[in-house]
Amino acid sequence: MSGLHLLLRFISLFVIFTSSFTLVVGLSGCHPDQIQALKQFKNEFDSRNCNQTDYLNGVQCDNATGAVTELQLPSGCLTGVLKPNSSLFHLRHLRHLNLSHNNFTSSSLPSEFSNLSRLEVLSLSSNSFIGQVPSLFSKLTWLNQLDLSHNQLTGSFQLVQNLTKLSILDLSYNHFSGAIPSSLLALPFLTRLDLSENYLTGSIEVLNSSSSLRHLSLSHNHFEGQILEPISNLITLKFLDISFLNISYPIDIKIFSSLKSLLKLVLSGNSISSTSLGSDSDVPLSLEKLGLSGCNIREFPNFLKSLHNLEYIDISNNKILGKVPEWLWSLPRLSTVTLLNNSFTGFEGSTEVLVNSSVRILDLALNHFKGPFPNPPNSLTVLSAWNNSFTGSIPLEICNQSKLALLDLSYNNFSGSIPRCLSNLQNSLIVVNLRKNNLEGSLPDNCHDGALLRTLDVGFNKLTGKLPRSLLNCSSLKFLSVDNNNIKDTFPFWLKGLPNLQAFTLRSNRFYGPISPPGQGPLEFPELRILEIADNKFTGSLPQDYFVNWKVMTEDGSLYMGDYNEIPGYIYEDTIDLQYKGLFMEQGKVLTSYATIDFSGNRLEGQIPESIGLLKTLIALNLSNNAFTGHIPLSLENVTELESLDLSRNQLSGTIPRGLGSLSFLAYISVAHNQLKGVIPQATQITGQPKSSFEGNVGLCGLPLEQSCFAPPTRQPKEEDEEEDEGLLNWKALVIGYGPGLLFGLLLAHVIASYRPKWFVKIVGPDKHMETDPVTLFMSMDSRWDSFNNKKSVESTM
Ligand SMILES: *[C@@H]1O[C@H](CO)[C@@H](O)[C@H](O)[C@H]1NC(C)=O
Ligand SMILES: *[C@@H]1O[C@H](CO)[C@@H](O)[C@H](O)[C@H]1NC(C)=O
Ligand SMILES: *[C@@H]1O[C@H](CO)[C@@H](O)[C@H](O)[C@H]1NC(C)=O
Ligand SMILES: *[C@@H]1O[C@H](CO)[C@@H](O)[C@H](O)[C@H]1NC(C)=O
Ligand SMILES: *[C@@H]1O[C@H](CO)[C@@H](O)[C@H](O)[C@H]1NC(C)=O
Ligand SMILES: *[C@@H]1O[C@H](CO)[C@@H](O)[C@H](O)[C@H]1NC(C)=O
Ligand SMILES: *[C@@H]1O[C@H](CO)[C@@H](O)[C@H](O)[C@H]1NC(C)=O
Ligand SMILES: *[C@@H]1O[C@H](CO)[C@@H](O)[C@H](O)[C@H]1NC(C)=O
Ligand SMILES: *[C@@H]1O[C@H](CO)[C@@H](O)[C@H](O)[C@H]1NC(C)=O
Ligand SMILES: *[C@@H]1O[C@H](CO)[C@@H](O)[C@H](O)[C@H]1NC(C)=O
Ligand SMILES: *[C@@H]1O[C@H](CO)[C@@H](O)[C@H](O)[C@H]1NC(C)=O
Ligand SMILES: *[C@@H]1O[C@H](CO)[C@@H](O)[C@H](O)[C@H]1NC(C)=O
Repeated sequence: MSGLHLLLRFISLFVIFTSSFTLVVGLSGCHPDQIQALKQFKNEFDSRNCNQTDYLNGVQCDNATGAVTELQLPSGCLTGVLKPNSSLFHLRHLRHLNLSHNNFTSSSLPSEFSNLSRLEVLSLSSNSFIGQVPSLFSKLTWLNQLDLSHNQLTGSFQLVQNLTKLSILDLSYNHFSGAIPSSLLALPFLTRLDLSENYLTGSIEVLNSSSSLRHLSLSHNHFEGQILEPISNLITLKFLDISFLNISYPIDIKIFSSLKSLLKLVLSGNSISSTSLGSDSDVPLSLEKLGLSGCNIREFPNFLKSLHNLEYIDISNNKILGKVPEWLWSLPRLSTVTLLNNSFTGFEGSTEVLVNSSVRILDLALNHFKGPFPNPPNSLTVLSAWNNSFTGSIPLEICNQSKLALLDLSYNNFSGSIPRCLSNLQNSLIVVNLRKNNLEGSLPDNCHDGALLRTLDVGFNKLTGKLPRSLLNCSSLKFLSVDNNNIKDTFPFWLKGLPNLQAFTLRSNRFYGPISPPGQGPLEFPELRILEIADNKFTGSLPQDYFVNWKVMTEDGSLYMGDYNEIPGYIYEDTIDLQYKGLFMEQGKVLTSYATIDFSGNRLEGQIPESIGLLKTLIALNLSNNAFTGHIPLSLENVTELESLDLSRNQLSGTIPRGLGSLSFLAYISVAHNQLKGVIPQATQITGQPKSSFEGNVGLCGLPLEQSCFAPPTRQPKEEDEEEDEGLLNWKALVIGYGPGLLFGLLLAHVIASYRPKWFVKIVGPDKHMETDPVTLFMSMDSRWDSFNNKKSVESTM
């Protein structure tokens, strides 16, 4: 109570620090000098992001001396350079200093930290500190916790040898180089050492093991020599992460048999010798979690059989063939099994083999499993089996998994109907992805109030009937994809009742009728960013104010969906296929701050609404293959993020607005087959397009067409044409599919400037994309896979 009392007094004092009265009162809490120093410290930076309450809560003073002993800044509070003469270094009685997650832009670490000689805890993680750790840090001999992780620090860190009281040292995610000083592993109290994600080289040496190290992470470094042998002497280890060591020889798991207390072992990204995988292998039997992802393993690791405490096993990204052994499912504590990206073909045992297993998270994706799906275990929360060859119907037993949060059976050959009983799982299901199967019948009409469902993807099946009106009860729905089915219905205006709907595609179905609300007026989808209704039979015209109520699209924002962190232990992100005139894009991550609209291949008529110009975040607009008339809206010049614009095959007349020339991200434009005339805006991103983007208009002139606007048409020299094409390729590598040498393979290109890292485009022949086998696709697209990999996978942080 008295602490709170003092704190309150201190707060009032801090707020009204100019009043000498409060200063006097504050003497019994924090000393005025100290308060002055704190105030000065804050003023050295841009502190607009500081939460005053949090800032004050982070300060503790010694109630006897009034000296600040603890300072913990809230995240993101201070921005600026931490200078050597900072008032921070006057707070000499600090014992606990936590400045993590601030923004000390390009500051080097001042040696003056060593003036804070009583420090016991120092955390400077996740700032932008650069340069070397000053040698004077070695004077901080009272330190027992030092966290410099997630900065850009360089050089070696010999100094730590004098910090003999250290118990926790975290230097991960920096640019430290050189070898690990042998004295480091000999620090008597060190229990936790994290050196992962640096450029450390050489071997390591464990002097006599009086070490009490329990947690050691050396992952993602460049060690060369002896490293495993010394580690095997650290017999107190409970957690060991040596993934991605980049050592040239395969690891023999037996070497860890001396680590009798080991609970977690991560060897991912290293090659493992096949002789050590047998059931007779001598491994630490205590293991609970084991990471063997990408270890070049070709046969099932039978030594797992003896790990009776095993809870988590990741053997993804290996080359294991054949069937999953029956004994795996009887390990009594098994909870997470990741078999992702191997060549498994089936399960040993009967269709009941899984039912008694304790497994909760089961990831079978990207394998060659075939035949009917076995009856699932009882306790599942995540079932991911995308990209296999499962056949037969979806087992109804799935509906007995009362905690199932994610069901992803996409890219298989399941047939039959979608189980009606999935509605039993409304209190748990968050994601249902059944894309690219052979499912028939209609969508179940049984969404109940309070359902948690956020993603429903049933695209590329053979579904018929109407969109069930009960979807309106699934008020959490954000992502709804029913594309490429045979659904016959009118435009679902009623979906405006879904307050969170962000992406909606009903492409390639048999929808019909108007897409303007009855009585005209704007369409109301408050949160919608992606609307794909191409290739249906929609008719009618759009009122000029059609787009005025698309609130989200008209605002800037950086929200994205797919952050399904309420599914523990698994990362899921929605994907969507976007097609723009032969460009076929599959977003690894649906970044919903960028909007797309595709109305192509319908029978829409009348003018293109001028209100389209309000959709500031629109990056792709496809209105091709309709019967739009009138002019291209001038307001398109205000859609400054636009990258793909397809207005081809309509009956548009007039000229191409000059303002389109100012759309600097425009990588694809086509206005072919209209009745346009006049000068094509002469901006590089437009004149660099192929001629075919402008053909089929009677009166267009100027580059890239050969018709000059002012002189009789002259032929351009051939080379110049080619050069131009090449320039465009280099510029964005987007238009490849259009040249005479049409590219039927897959090509990967960043569509967007690098600050939008999650966008990738694959370009295929216009009619080929549907047949693309997703496996080959992902295999051939390494960098895309990076984003895909973290898209849907068991969280590797164990
Ligand atoms: C200082 O305040 C804390 C918290 O109220 C209390 O536990 C501690 O005994 C006090 N110390 C002195 C020296 O008064
Ligand atoms: C500051 O933080 C406190 C508690 O952490 C919170 O209640 C308050 O709303 C925050 N104030 C502002 C302006 O964000
Ligand atoms: C430092 O503060 C961050 C939050 O800003 C917190 O996550 C971290 O645990 C703290 N570190 C220590 C050593 O107190
Ligand atoms: C700290 O040094 C900078 C120059 O590096 C100077 O501009 C500034 O006034 C000094 N601040 C204090 C409090 O002495
Ligand atoms: C850090 O500060 C720089 C420059 O003041 C600013 O551009 C950047 O956005 C800030 N970063 C964060 C994470 O706040
Ligand atoms: C830090 O200590 C050194 C030597 O003890 C002293 O010269 C220097 O002024 C101190 N710096 C600050 C900012 O207190
Ligand atoms: C470490 O401490 C020893 C004495 O204990 C001293 O001689 C040496 O200079 C210190 N090392 C560093 C880098 O300060
Ligand atoms: C290391 O310790 C072992 C016993 O744990 C002992 O036999 C050996 O002599 C010691 N070696 C050194 C170099 O101290
Ligand atoms: C792995 O080591 C080799 C040399 O042994 C080096 O050429 C290569 O760049 C390293 N790879 C990584 C990812 O560190
Ligand atoms: C699958 O694993 C192999 C290694 O066995 C790896 O090379 C490949 O990139 C992985 N494929 C995907 C799609 O991650
Ligand atoms: C599962 O457990 C039940 C009850 O213990 C038992 O009757 C059944 O045979 C078991 N099934 C399998 C496939 O082991
Ligand atoms: C573009 O936006 C500005 C500001 O919102 C507006 O004044 C202008 O009329 C718009 N241009 C067109 C052609 O609609």
